[in-house]
Amino acid sequence: RAEACRILAAELAELVASINASGRPAVLGLATGRTPLPFYAELIRLHRAGQLSFANVVTFNLDEYLGLSADHPESYHAFMRRELFGHVDIPAENIHIPDGTVTDIPAHCAAYEKTIRDAGGIDFQLLGIGRTGHIGFNEPGSPRDSRTRRVELDPITRQDAAPAFGGLENVPTHAISMGCGTILEARKIALLAWGEAKAAIVNEALSGPVTDQVSASFLQQHPDATFYVDADAGARL
Ligand code: F6R
Repeated sequence: RAEACRILAAELAELVASINASGRPAVLGLATGRTPLPFYAELIRLHRAGQLSFANVVTFNLDEYLGLSADHPESYHAFMRRELFGHVDIPAENIHIPDGTVTDIPAHCAAYEKTIRDAGGIDFQLLGIGRTGHIGFNEPGSPRDSRTRRVELDPITRQDAAPAFGGLENVPTHAISMGCGTILEARKIALLAWGEAKAAIVNEALSGPVTDQVSASFLQQHPDATFYVDADAGARL
């Protein structure tokens, strides 16, 4: 894990520097959850070492739980502040995360898509993978061309989140998530997976059929998508 995070973080620092040198901001799509934690720690280390600046970086997070405000500790707004944004030099106005408290959800989702387009699209998208094969919260049945929208969380996904929420009854039932189509438009994609709980789904995503029953399988058809796995998550390949 540490090695994968070091390699990917160094690549990302180079990408950001070269895009910035071309005279425009680098646009990053970011994920939450347990998986990216060592990666974000490495980005913070590079930043502190003077090897990575977020001053000219624009970010879009994949998703947010519906019903959670930015100050809820399990919200993805709070997660990103805690694990990355609070430790680097990113301007607050460059950060975009879906708002889980909006009343007009379709309008908010359409505006999110437009903000991504207006930023020139996503240069680099970071992903984890759920045991349902989801990327973002695109649960089984999410169409390949889906866009940012309200989604219902799979029972397995809610179960996996239950410990963090102190019980299944506290886990939100819905989220706002970028769609598969939104994610697949990113120019470069990196999916991280650690641990044996991910071994079966990593194998299905990479070696199984391309199907909307496993959103991550769509990545097989992306021109520049790479999986970074540890030995346990790659054990069934
Ligand atoms: C998070 C996200 C999800 C997670 C996935 C894995 O923003 O969109 O797809 O990446 O649920 O979660 P962890 O890393 O906690 O196993």
